[in-house]
Amino acid sequence: MTIPTAALHTAAERFGTPLYVYDAAELDAALARVRAAFGPARVYYAMKANPNLSLLRRLHGAGVGFECVSSGEIARAEAVGAIGPQLLVNGPAKSDAEYAAGARLSATFIVDRVEEVNLLPPQSRALVRVNPALAVSTHDHLATGAAGSKFGVTLQQAPNVLDALRVAGHTALGLHVHIGSAIRDAHDFTAAFGRLSELRQQTGPLAVLDAGGGWGLDADLYGIAREAWATAGVFGAELWVEPGRYLVARAGTLLTRVVGSKRAGRNFCLVDAGMTELMRPMLYGAVHPVQALWDGQERENWDIAGPACESGDLLARDIPLPHPKRGELLAIGEAGAYGAAMSSNYLTRSRPAEALWNGEKWSLIRRRETPQDVWAAEV
Ligand SMILES: Cc1ncc(COP(=O)(O)O)c(C=O)c1O
Repeated sequence: MTIPTAALHTAAERFGTPLYVYDAAELDAALARVRAAFGPARVYYAMKANPNLSLLRRLHGAGVGFECVSSGEIARAEAVGAIGPQLLVNGPAKSDAEYAAGARLSATFIVDRVEEVNLLPPQSRALVRVNPALAVSTHDHLATGAAGSKFGVTLQQAPNVLDALRVAGHTALGLHVHIGSAIRDAHDFTAAFGRLSELRQQTGPLAVLDAGGGWGLDADLYGIAREAWATAGVFGAELWVEPGRYLVARAGTLLTRVVGSKRAGRNFCLVDAGMTELMRPMLYGAVHPVQALWDGQERENWDIAGPACESGDLLARDIPLPHPKRGELLAIGEAGAYGAAMSSNYLTRSRPAEALWNGEKWSLIRRRETPQDVWAAEV
């Protein structure tokens, strides 16, 4: 984390906790790393990772397009001015409203099943998502390209779907593959792209290969880029990519205050954030770095427990900390992706505020919800 500790204390005091904070410099640096590795590939940010409008505006300003998977995400893209070639509309079960919004904005659709050929708005631009049927090195819930996963068409179906798109009057741009999220082993990408290359004889040359996202934070981007470009070369295609997590994860930190501690079989450090603010540890067993923002000589291992009445509401286990005191701050790192985006109102908890650090000062980029916000749609 590059935000100075004093600035983190200021933010927590000014905006309250739990609080998501983002470092603009780290967001820019992540995009620069992607561009350095992937060269002229077109970058579409998968906004499901973090759809905050201020972050979207910053990425849009840097020339990044968006991958959207719901009417709400399409509306966000439109709100920041993205249109036409800057928009991909994806999803395994698109609604009529999503097709209509995508058509109105001249987006490119990612076709996820054979029947979609007949559901697309007339004369759409489309890519065909292929499921390469591979096991990958990530949590089962994060694997999207395994045999039996609900995503994409099979390798056997893909050439026929491209043909069917053309026959139906659409522009069949090419193929799309996304095998999962937080993938640690670059060989998984090599294997997936390799399966796509085998389709070349049947598909002929294509205009676009979309290699998806899914890169773990420590993944060898240059290795993935080399393989992706080689596969694009097989088809004579240009390369598109869809990073989500890689662009925003490290930029984000969840600040939470210690509420107290408890020794009951294990050592629990009780904090004011939990599964409602950061669901990844409970959902995927995700491990986030945790840093105490207070001093103390002696360290013991503590489990970081949230306020929800759910025994799974733990943010981390066995974290060496100086003795936790009520009011002190903990910084939970690598929380910029699928953190705020997945936060919920369970237990009528108000979703947290979000603040952006520009190296000198803070701006509030989402105010904390009030209980009235939470029940505003109810009668
Ligand atoms: C089609 C598609 N593209 C890109 C992404 C982004 O993945 P990640 O955030 O792991 O880079 C996802 C995530 O689910 C996805 O489904």
